[in-house]
Amino acid sequence: MAESMQGLKRTCRCAEVTKEQIGDTVTLMGWVQKARNKGGIIFVDLRDRSGIMQLIFENGEIDEDGFEKAGRLRSEFVMAVTGRVAARSGAVNENLATGELEIRCESLRILSESETPPFAVEENSKTRDEVRLRNRFLDLRRPDIQRNMMIRSRVARLTREFMAEEGFLEIETPMLIKSTPEGARDYVVPSRVHPGQFYALPQSPQIFKQLLMCSGYDRYIQIVKCFRDEDLRADRQPEFTQIDMELSFVDVDDVIDVNERLLAYLFKEILGVEVQLPIQRMTWQECMDRFGSDKPDLRFGMELTDVSEAVKDCGFGVFTGALAAGGTVRGINAKGQGAMPRKKIDKLTEFVRDYGAKGLAYAAVQEDGTCKSSFARFMKPEEMEALIAAMGGEPGDLLLFAADKNKVVWDSLGALRLELARQMDLLDKKEYRFLWVTEFPLLEWSEEEQRYTAMHHPFTMPMEEDWEKIDTDPGAVRAKAYDIVLNGTELGGGSVRIHQNDIQSKMFEVLGFTPEQAHEQFGFLLNAFKYGVPPHAGLAYGLDRLIMLMVGADTIRDVIAFPKVKDASDLMSEAPSAIDGKQLKELCLRVELPEN
Ligand code: AMO
Ligand code: AMP
Repeated sequence: MAESMQGLKRTCRCAEVTKEQIGDTVTLMGWVQKARNKGGIIFVDLRDRSGIMQLIFENGEIDEDGFEKAGRLRSEFVMAVTGRVAARSGAVNENLATGELEIRCESLRILSESETPPFAVEENSKTRDEVRLRNRFLDLRRPDIQRNMMIRSRVARLTREFMAEEGFLEIETPMLIKSTPEGARDYVVPSRVHPGQFYALPQSPQIFKQLLMCSGYDRYIQIVKCFRDEDLRADRQPEFTQIDMELSFVDVDDVIDVNERLLAYLFKEILGVEVQLPIQRMTWQECMDRFGSDKPDLRFGMELTDVSEAVKDCGFGVFTGALAAGGTVRGINAKGQGAMPRKKIDKLTEFVRDYGAKGLAYAAVQEDGTCKSSFARFMKPEEMEALIAAMGGEPGDLLLFAADKNKVVWDSLGALRLELARQMDLLDKKEYRFLWVTEFPLLEWSEEEQRYTAMHHPFTMPMEEDWEKIDTDPGAVRAKAYDIVLNGTELGGGSVRIHQNDIQSKMFEVLGFTPEQAHEQFGFLLNAFKYGVPPHAGLAYGLDRLIMLMVGADTIRDVIAFPKVKDASDLMSEAPSAIDGKQLKELCLRVELPEN
């Protein structure tokens, strides 16, 4: 039968026992990692969140009863043990923090027993994700996941401390809010008191933090849950956590300054990594031209080269056709990859099709300066030479080209650049390359909706020098928006906000809201703006992404205690689920499922 605490006190955690304590008596509590019975002596590895300690039960050192009990220990039993700290009698285990020590046990209690778990609780589990997530309570016992959760907790604490020192106030904003159509899809919650009406869960506290600025709180921070009903990827969850902030009486540089110091502090404290300040900045336009991405990974080169000029009169119709249609031709030089087999190049061609490319033209530069190429036959030798020169091509290089509309060329070569870096093993997880991306376009043309949408959100301030173009060339107006990028991942983003009612109204007009619709959706913000608004700006990090990069995890699931899978369900609790008829009735809801 399971025993209980009955006054017994844990003196420390397993890995907290030190050599200085040799000879002392300690009481440890935790889970059995493994137990080996060697006749007169039983070895047990005891695990808690700090690590593992070897326990020795030797007949004679512990009484008959205790020894018999120790013989019953199995993996994942929970136990309490009291014993003497000793130097290891056997070989020292250099892999363990406590590898030079053991506990010679004098008494034990079995606090609870365990069935045989569906998988072993161990580091770097090879168990299938699905099994792990169905049994997340066990999966969370694994040392690597526990380390991630502990780092996450420390990052949150250090952030709070740092920001408090900087004069930020932590203020909570509501979770049940009004649904707004901009951005991703909302998760909605039906109201019982107001039948037929719904709250939305916040995609971010954006409007509320701006209202707090209107109310004079001047520096706000919150570590806050956000909800977005969007397609999941390795770095996206339907509910995730932001480190969210807003500041009054500031401009771009002020926000960047405090955030650079925050990042440097966190990376130093958590990883011992010195972040070189100031962090590099690059405009959105330069990012796209050089890397085909607004979140470039700067750990390696392989930049895009615009060869439109070099091929404008060439004989290859794919190139000239794209140029005639207003597009560009750009290439990347995969240094030393000239011997890549045709099959692999075909795979890369398939890869870029996912990004809208119609093909991938290639040229492998040979020792004699000629090329093995999918399009050289359409080119004069001097045209080919000019192209290779424009690409900085040398014997042994593989040159890859895309010709299309700018967006397609950027997207496909940007993704190809990363794919090649993975294949060529150019990505060092221990290197941290930060970048501020600035001067984003204010608006983005949506083919689907046939209108401009806000690239960031409708409250982002346009750059003063571009504002006059808002009617004539809205796509050319840049915004006072910035993203912080780390190793090709968007860690966070923010902007200076519009604080002038006339600019805000104009923005809504450009986004296709009638004044009535704008009022209906955002009336409370527009109202607040009537009564004295400080200039303000802010930023939000994805905390999950930050931790993912700090610990080198491949998915943000590994840094979230209870994550969801690709279809947004929780395999362990089996959410979402149907609700019963009584609940539906109370909410005045009827469910109508689609035919198939
Ligand atoms: P934004 O929409 O860029 O800005 O979000 C800020 C950061 O939140 C993280 N993030 C996510 N992380 C995990 N799963 C998701 N589904 C997800 N979506 C976003 C990203 C992103 O950079 N209110 C503005 C911020 C501001 O302007 O101050 C906002 O929410 O790391
Ligand atoms: P084809 O003449 O269709 O055999 O194409 C010759 C080469 O051009 C092939 O390697 C195609 O993958 C490539 N190609 C086709 N369309 C494009 C494009 N839009 N951009 C770059 N390469 C292309």
